[in-house]
Amino acid sequence: MTTSPADLDTAIITSQAYGEQSFPFEEWRWLRANDPIHWTDVDELENFWAITRHRHITEISSQPEVFSNEAGNIVIFREEQADTFDREDNPFNSMRVIIQMDPPDHREFRNVASGFFTPRGITRLDEIVTNTARMVIDRLSEHGSEPVDFVAEVAQRHPLRVLCTILGVPPEDEDHLLELTSQLFAFDDPDLGPPGEDRQAAADLLGLQFYDLFNVIIEERRENPRDDLASLLANAQLENGEPMGLIETLGYYLIVFNAGHDTTRHSLSGAIGAFLDHPEEFARLKEDPTLIKTAVDEIVRYTAPVNYMKRTALEDYQLDDVLIKKGDRLCMFYGAANRDEEIFDDPDRFDVGREHNRHLGFGWAEHYCLGAHLAKASITALLEQMIERIETIEPAGDPTYTASSFVHGYKTLPVKVTWS
Ligand code: HEM
Repeated sequence: MTTSPADLDTAIITSQAYGEQSFPFEEWRWLRANDPIHWTDVDELENFWAITRHRHITEISSQPEVFSNEAGNIVIFREEQADTFDREDNPFNSMRVIIQMDPPDHREFRNVASGFFTPRGITRLDEIVTNTARMVIDRLSEHGSEPVDFVAEVAQRHPLRVLCTILGVPPEDEDHLLELTSQLFAFDDPDLGPPGEDRQAAADLLGLQFYDLFNVIIEERRENPRDDLASLLANAQLENGEPMGLIETLGYYLIVFNAGHDTTRHSLSGAIGAFLDHPEEFARLKEDPTLIKTAVDEIVRYTAPVNYMKRTALEDYQLDDVLIKKGDRLCMFYGAANRDEEIFDDPDRFDVGREHNRHLGFGWAEHYCLGAHLAKASITALLEQMIERIETIEPAGDPTYTASSFVHGYKTLPVKVTWS
């Protein structure tokens, strides 16, 4: 075993390190080769096993009865946060969302919306997705060849519009919702996170603000149902014929919006970051638009905006040569698995024509991303607009990164566009 990189544990999990250096590709490479099931110990955080190989992640994800989402949630907590996880007076904690459930509840609640998100189900969103892509690229074109921040102008606007439309959020509330979701996902980021010294109070307030916003929509859709996801969720029934409870309904709004927004935003800006580093791949896509399908999967593999998911072992389990003990936490690093040399040829290469792309950017098995088809449709629509209307895209300054190790990507990405 070669010596491990300095500050390895800090680099792979602390939000501050991600804010400064973004994804820890060097550390992951070392871990895959030398210590793929690595015990991680950072002072102020819960300890956990860092999982960096593709085959270990699929093994863990395929066994939700052993590796639970419900027992310890899906994010690594600071020590003091872990103590408040079960506090009943925290509205955020009591909101049950599908990503925090285990079977059989998980399957029952997932079935409520799964029909909406199938490839056929989301064809009803084709128009919204295409029009939104056109609208954001129109906005971008207003800047001509001036430097512009791709994140603010395009990447965050596109999923915001699409998700607000399907969830019935009125246009005047879009910016407020954008601010709340940024605060949630960049909780530790000094620029984007919620204000205030008392972090627990900030989390509670954030929960209440989401609650206020979505509750109005739920009440309205119960009175006047329409043919949209907002109405489907507001009026959903469970298998026993009972209506879905208010807490679960609110949780559904929250998970769909939050799981869908920052992830798609980071995949879109990550795609442009990849094209800035590999302009020949943008030219290749312009030359041959039939590559868009493989390009979309390659973008999700290469950018892996959901950096990790946590599981908690419900029993002792032998994972390769490591004995995982009951109660241990495991963090599956999707971006590390997506560069696993055992699975991918030339894994660090960004290749829009990559075939047999078994990436884990959308996770695996039980909790596989519910919005994967919508996310792919959104990326496709944006790429179609871009390759048709943009000749070249170049960097216009240094990018910055969100100080978040959970859902991660560019905070700002200055670019300069030459239009066709
Ligand atoms: C490029 C964009 C996206 C990426 C990279 C992504 C990635 C992921 C990942 C890694 C998971 C966890 C999978 C696991 O634990 O095995 C997940 C779950 C989920 N995603 Fe996405 N996602 C994206 C977009 C979306 C969108 C647009 C929506 C909704 C509109 C969405 C809704 C969800 C939901 C509801 C879950 C929980 C599923 C469950 O627990 O069964 N995601 N996503």
